[in-house]
Amino acid sequence: MFCLMNEILEKILVRYPANRKDSLLPILQEVQQVNGYLTDDLIAEVGRTLNMPVNKVFSVAAFYDQFRFRPHGLYHVQLCRGTACHLHGSLSYLGELEKQLKLKAGTTSRDRRYSLELVNCMGACESAPVIRINDVYHPHVTPEALTRIIHSLKEKTE
Ligand code: FES
Repeated sequence: MFCLMNEILEKILVRYPANRKDSLLPILQEVQQVNGYLTDDLIAEVGRTLNMPVNKVFSVAAFYDQFRFRPHGLYHVQLCRGTACHLHGSLSYLGELEKQLKLKAGTTSRDRRYSLELVNCMGACESAPVIRINDVYHPHVTPEALTRIIHSLKEKTE
């Protein structure tokens, strides 16, 4: 697995000039896209290639919400907290999601069935409030719809 990742990483890194520190963000984005999240090993390899200290690479990645350091669950639930969704009460659903999925926002359940993430605008403001589960958008979420969404999620996994 790690060898395969090294090969993929090499293919990504070879397209960027060495020591070009402005390549850091696009490289991290590509690495995450391929692996799903950033590991210590991947961060170290990116740092080595760009001739940057590992802690510098890590602190840059940690600064941006877009980077993850843990794998998502089988069902990755994203609750939008962007302005339109917030104004339509999206955050009032957070407590129920955390309770039903038995996890806190920003984490993945131990069995890796679920992960929950608060995200900024998902580009579907006209459908606020919006929840996305993997690639499926749930528009105009109401308390009743949330109950149905959670029920159907649990049916798939239990
Ligand atoms: S604010 Fe939620 S989709 Fe834009």
